[in-house]
Amino acid sequence: MQEAAFERPGVRAIFPTHILETRIKDFAALNDGLRTAIAAHMGADPGIARSNIGGWHSDTEMLQWAGAPARRLALATLQLCGAYTHDKGLRGETPRFEMGLEMWANVSPPGASNQVHAHPGCVWSAVYYVDDGGDADSGKLVLHDPRFPMNRMAAPDLVFAADGAMEEMRVEVAPEPGKLIAFPSWLMHSVKPHRGARDRISIALNVMAIPVRKQQQAAR
Ligand SMILES: [Fe+2]
Repeated sequence: MQEAAFERPGVRAIFPTHILETRIKDFAALNDGLRTAIAAHMGADPGIARSNIGGWHSDTEMLQWAGAPARRLALATLQLCGAYTHDKGLRGETPRFEMGLEMWANVSPPGASNQVHAHPGCVWSAVYYVDDGGDADSGKLVLHDPRFPMNRMAAPDLVFAADGAMEEMRVEVAPEPGKLIAFPSWLMHSVKPHRGARDRISIALNVMAIPVRKQQQAAR
């Protein structure tokens, strides 16, 4: 190979997208509680249609109807997202934002999927898995490269590579009981069709930043 005419370049991978992936501690009991609450609500409510293709999508009031297990998951999600959020405009110690949260349940039978979408108006969005539906290889969450169209308009397979690593256009996350994954709400995502034998059960959460002053005004 011809000798390089330049010094070894520094490579800066800029504008990172933060994906938080963790597992709730002692999740078995939590999942039992969530499963029971979801089954009860599903029997009483027809659900709503959003990005889901097939399956049951509950209303977004799960915090109100699913009791203590929902509150435990909500608190864990707020704690996780709060730990990875920083207000650059903060002066002093008084927070300018309170984190609000809405959540809903998804019960996906074999064949169900979700179209590509984002969650406008929120800061973080998260998915928690109660049951992988018997097949962790299907029903994966797909996170889509937000930097469209890059150079892919002309050459879809041509990607930038440096130091042995090349960029990804889609990143897939497998469902797994107890797993909690959070990502910026503007990130487009979809869910591949579920192929397991039983229903996959997941919970979606939105974390919103509510200006503290507005909240105080509303309370008056
Ligand atoms: Fe979503």
